[in-house]
This record gives sequence, C-alpha cells and structure tokens, in this order.
Amino acid sequence: MSERTLVLVKPDGVRRAIVGEVISRIERKGLKLVALELKNLPRETAESHYAEHSGKPFFGELVDFITGGPLVALVVEGPRAIEAFRALAGATDPVKAAPGTIRGDFALEIGENIVHGSDSPESAEREIKLFFPEVA
Ligand code: CMP
Repeated sequence: MSERTLVLVKPDGVRRAIVGEVISRIERKGLKLVALELKNLPRETAESHYAEHSGKPFFGELVDFITGGPLVALVVEGPRAIEAFRALAGATDPVKAAPGTIRGDFALEIGENIVHGSDSPESAEREIKLFFPEVA
C-alpha cells in the first residue's frame, strides 16, 4: 500500500545547492514526486509546522532558521514512504547519521540538517495539508 510524506529541503540545502542531489536520491530510491514548490515560509506556517517543539529551548532558533531563506517542499509517495525517506535522510543529528545518508553525507549540525521528513502518518497528513492544501 502506498503512503505519502512531506519532505523539506531546508534553507541550508537550498543555499548549498544540493536540492538536485536530494531529489535525485528520492527518485533513485523509487519514490514518486507528487508535489514540489520553492517557497519562503511565513513565520506562522513555520510555527504551526513545528508546533510539537514549541516549548523547547531551540524553538526560536528553529523557526528563524527555517524562515531564513527559501526552502523546497515536496510531497513524496510510495510504499512505506515515511520510513523510506527517513532512512534516506539518516539520524536527526548529522554526526550520528550514517555515511551514505543525506545528513550523514552533507551535514554536521543538528540545527542545520538539510532535510525534514514527516515522522508518522498523522504528521504527514497534517504537514501535507499545511504546505499543499490542494494536494491533501
Ligand atoms: P526536523 O526533522 O526538521 O524536526 C525538528 C528539528 O528540530 C530537527 O529536524 C532539527 O533540525 C531541530 N532540532 C532538534 N534538536 C535540536 C537542538 N537541540 N538544537 C537545534 N535544533 C534542533
């Protein structure tokens, strides 16, 4: 059975010009692109997207970072797409992420870890609605 996940290439990924590299890895894995947009995230959308982290000490920094430049949002589809993309992304802390994963190959800092992928079917549904109301 197919499922969908929301993927973000965060502003650090756009700045470093590895959007194509990330999309290429998604496509090579066999996942399908369903929606794609380059956009500047309004602060309100960022706060809503990261609502579950709103009490954490790094929340302000996280919202500043994700709204600090254009990002690329994608809806990706395939069998177990949520887990499949999280495996491609690697661990949240890029130093712990295995080489061969996106974060393992391209990042060093937890706050600038190149990509985001939904972590559950419930998050995926909420995040896809937030970024692509017309697709959900
Ligand atoms: P992401 O998958 O986008 O979901 C929440 C983000 O918060 C996570 O990736 C990290 O980039 C960020 N994050 C998690 N822990 C920390 C931290 N201790 N300091 C800064 N950012 C963090």
